[in-house]
Amino acid sequence: MVDASLKSVEFERPAPSGAMCVSQAWARVPNAVSQAERAELKTRIKRLLVEQNAVLVAHYYVDADLQDLAEETGGCVADSLEMARFGRAHPAKTLVVAGVRFMGETSKILSPEKRVLMPDLDATCSLDLGCPADEFAAFCDAHPDRTVVVYANTSAAVKARADWMVTSAIGLEIVAHLHAQGKKILWAPDRHLGSYVQKQTGADMLLWQGACLVHDEFKGVELELLKKAHPNALVLVHPESPEAVVALADVVGSTSQMIAAAQSMSATEFIVATDNGILHKMRAAAPGKVFIEAPTAGNSATCKSCAHCPWMAMNSLQNLAEVLETGRNEIHVDPAIGRAAHTCIDRMLTFAQARKQPVRASGDLARDGALFAGVGPA
Ligand code: 13P
Ligand code: SF4
Repeated sequence: MVDASLKSVEFERPAPSGAMCVSQAWARVPNAVSQAERAELKTRIKRLLVEQNAVLVAHYYVDADLQDLAEETGGCVADSLEMARFGRAHPAKTLVVAGVRFMGETSKILSPEKRVLMPDLDATCSLDLGCPADEFAAFCDAHPDRTVVVYANTSAAVKARADWMVTSAIGLEIVAHLHAQGKKILWAPDRHLGSYVQKQTGADMLLWQGACLVHDEFKGVELELLKKAHPNALVLVHPESPEAVVALADVVGSTSQMIAAAQSMSATEFIVATDNGILHKMRAAAPGKVFIEAPTAGNSATCKSCAHCPWMAMNSLQNLAEVLETGRNEIHVDPAIGRAAHTCIDRMLTFAQARKQPVRASGDLARDGALFAGVGPA
């Protein structure tokens, strides 16, 4: 295993009593590498991907080198909806998922016949950690009359208990669809995304009280001040952000939808409230436009994440090369849990397919209109 130091991570989660508590976790901090090492590692990874009949599927929050490598080698960099679709459709025998654990598990559940590797299997998510399967099962048992809708950022065991899985790109549309059928919803785990979807759709939703430690740090008061200093800037917000931040947004959407908005809208300045790993792709998609990070806490010394997910940051060129060389870090999902979880993921993909929901922008507003179907204003 490549040497790395550890950092401790604090996040809020609901305790079984219903009260909020602070939990501790940890994340590995990859070693810095020199320019020469980076170039050598990239060449090695490109060769290994071909030799191993493998394709790299990356999220927008991982290291910029990994995002570039994914695109240069015929893989993809995308939001969690498109990562799931791409991995399932791709003919490669091995999927290498650069992201966090639930993304690797979703790929494995959708493609049990493929080998799924991850640069670091300990890359987790505060939403996943804050929604243990046994506590979640008790919550569901207490509300048997509700349709269970879970966000992608959950373990396979939590998905196995759900009727539907959603991602931020399609959550609004799926809940609106269920609401129109008169269904009452039990939603987990993100309370901010849940309350945004609830307000937009008017659905009856009972919310698990989890949060993303990155988005939970964005502050409405500071964002208001930043907006005043940049009156022409449009505000792009990921719906895992708190209500006060969402209320100031011009566009609320998934990572792909935020990039599409930056590319397609005529404004030249944007304030961006999501993990700052997205700026790499945003700048490439909309060259010449200015992107400003939304403020986290007033004093950065107290900032838990400083707008970068500590677990996404665990994906590095070094551990990617290592897993391709050794075959270590294969994702395994208990087959019975995988089969049970498959139902709710497949339901979402079938729904997205029926709506022909695209997830990438072409830059042409007319062609990209459908991309904004699940995107709301504040
Ligand atoms: P997206 O599906 O919008 O990429 O979000 C995934 C995620 O983990 C955001 O924090
Ligand atoms: Fe989870 Fe937040 Fe990291 Fe996304 S950014 S993986 S929601 S902790």
